Amino acid sequence: MTTDKIDIHRGLADVYFDRTESSFIDGKEGTLLYRGYNIHDLAEKSTFEETSYLLIHGKLPTRSELDAFDVDLRSSRAIPDQVVEIIRAIKDSHPMDVLRTATSALSSFDPDAGDNSPEATLRKGLRLTSQVPTIVTTHYAIRDGREPVAPRNDLSHAANFLYMFKGEECDEDTNQLMDKDFILHAEHGSNASSFTARVVVGTNADIHGAITAGIAALSGPSHGGAAEGVMKMALEIGEPENAAQYVKDVLARRDRVMGFGHRVYRAEDPRARHLKAGVKRLSEEMGQPKWYAILEAVIEAMKPYARRGIHVNVDFFAGVIYYLNGIPEDLFVPIFAIGRMPGWVLQVLEQQENNILLRPRLAYVGPEEQAYVPIADR
Ligand SMILES: CC(C)(COP(=O)(O)OP(=O)(O)OC[C@H]1O[C@@H](n2cnc3c(N)ncnc32)[C@H](O)[C@@H]1OP(=O)(O)O)[C@@H](O)C(=O)NCCC(=O)NCCS
Repeated sequence: MTTDKIDIHRGLADVYFDRTESSFIDGKEGTLLYRGYNIHDLAEKSTFEETSYLLIHGKLPTRSELDAFDVDLRSSRAIPDQVVEIIRAIKDSHPMDVLRTATSALSSFDPDAGDNSPEATLRKGLRLTSQVPTIVTTHYAIRDGREPVAPRNDLSHAANFLYMFKGEECDEDTNQLMDKDFILHAEHGSNASSFTARVVVGTNADIHGAITAGIAALSGPSHGGAAEGVMKMALEIGEPENAAQYVKDVLARRDRVMGFGHRVYRAEDPRARHLKAGVKRLSEEMGQPKWYAILEAVIEAMKPYARRGIHVNVDFFAGVIYYLNGIPEDLFVPIFAIGRMPGWVLQVLEQQENNILLRPRLAYVGPEEQAYVPIADR
């Protein structure tokens, strides 16, 4: 029973369990490619719809391919009344719990339920990508005592999400910033939620099960919760001149400064810079420039730690953007889930294509074999 000679890779850090064509991450250089395309190009030049096509189909679409893909996405936004009723029944739960339950419930109403072929899985994946924002905004309205805002099919994915959230259309800059946020969160290799989705598919279970499990994994604060943490930190700091002392105190307690550090990146997270300008513009436009100034002051205070590979990550700027858009903190992780949908769909399809049961081992360190004692004699 000795386990002394077994190499244990706790947390599976740096363990490669398969090959992928999804995304490439070079943590030392701070490089991220989706299907071979640099995240900087996609963030600056693409749209969420085009990036989703790229991720799911493995190539950039032609105009007609993109139009057809977009028609499919736009036509699947509504969710069945029965799922709205389920959301009503659990409206007091955390939005991530509601999202998990409603995503699972959607499987019962999907026209391809029970069909696990690649074609059906793709259709279900696209429908889920369209339906997840509707679940989030339907719950948001119901818990506020309002009727949900029905989706519109004349708006982009990001613009429709903001429309359903606010009940009115946002301006083009705000829609574009949300679109960029979704692109930046769309895919990130074998993170905990995508890995979870693969484990579920590994047993030949279906995509609704895989994405429901992925949502459960994302709901934990070590995965999806940092944007919320950054906003809490910015609110606690209150004014830019308090930032240096705040950071000093956090580090003296050996706590983590939210929005800094990453398991993979030892250089700056390449996604972070694309939201920075958005925070600056939004906080000025809203007459609250102090939020941008607070974040700048935190970056300044963290400069000495860059030498140790602790840099700003994507969540550092995201939280303040959501806050300035009037989005409550407990919707920050659901927004991450909306963005991550194409990445989950891609990883489910890729796992299915070359499927294998994911079944690692645990080294047993419990007691040696024991004699069973009947309950009356214990
Ligand atoms: C993301 C995170 C979990 C990665 O952790 P990790 O890869 O396990 O990094 P480690 O725990 O090995 O950290 C290495 C060292 O850097 C320090 N460190 C890492 N992130 C830090 C942070 N945000 N603030 C201060 N110190 C940090 C650790 O304390 C540790 O120091 P030590 O060697 O003196 O003990 C971690 O950086 C973190 O908690 N960041 C804050 C939360 C966050 O922004 N998460 C979003 C990720 S997208």
